[in-house]
Amino acid sequence: MKIIVTKNYDDMSRKVANIIGAQVILKPESILGLATGSTPIGAYKELIASYNNGDLDFSKISTVNLDEYKGLTRDNDQSYYYFMNENLFKHVNIDISKTNVPDGTQTDAKQECENYNNIISNLGSIDMQLLGLGNNGHIGFNEPSDEFKTSTFCVDLAQSTIDSNARFFESIDDVPKQAYTMGIGNIMSASKVLVAVSGEAKADILKAVLTGPVTPQVPASILQFHPDVTFVVDEAAYSKM
Ligand code: F6R
Repeated sequence: MKIIVTKNYDDMSRKVANIIGAQVILKPESILGLATGSTPIGAYKELIASYNNGDLDFSKISTVNLDEYKGLTRDNDQSYYYFMNENLFKHVNIDISKTNVPDGTQTDAKQECENYNNIISNLGSIDMQLLGLGNNGHIGFNEPSDEFKTSTFCVDLAQSTIDSNARFFESIDDVPKQAYTMGIGNIMSASKVLVAVSGEAKADILKAVLTGPVTPQVPASILQFHPDVTFVVDEAAYSKM
């Protein structure tokens, strides 16, 4: 495990983008696993800037996102499909047909999980998976639980996740209660994992993830077992270490 401690959010974002950018340069046909949420927005801005400078070419890149709210249509501005378009895809030369986000409108959960697992396995292995860290230790939407899930599943979101994500919705009642998410097994199968963590609010959970026991009650703790994981954290997130 590598831990890179950065000064602040902007410094973290530049370093995350530099690592992803290096991956894109070294392997132009990379399969990138992507995350949403507030943490990666700065890194996506940096990637767009590098594309505009002529340093990055996304034309051969494929992407697969971690998760999507169940019940939100792709044109809903809170859907993760919408997020990815607004924050990255529409600003770079990625082939949109090579991007993948679970279909939140699919009501048949078994079918959608099977579809998404097929998409992931047909792509081959994910070269680099970007993750944020939930306040409760979740990665993707793998909430604290009694077991690690191997593949894509439909999850009942934890109340703490609903509360935390309410900031993006008009009212807490609008926050979806379920989501489709890659399982821990999908995430652990990525060749490289890159975890971005920012802010003092994540300091306690980051310490538990890095130094605590590996347990499905702190889902990200499983990353201690990943052979090639890099945490890029800012000083505030690292303050309890
Ligand atoms: C997003 C995702 C989540 C977030 C996590 C942190 O696709 O899978 O695990 O990475 O909830 O969210 P932020 O970055 O908003 O603190």
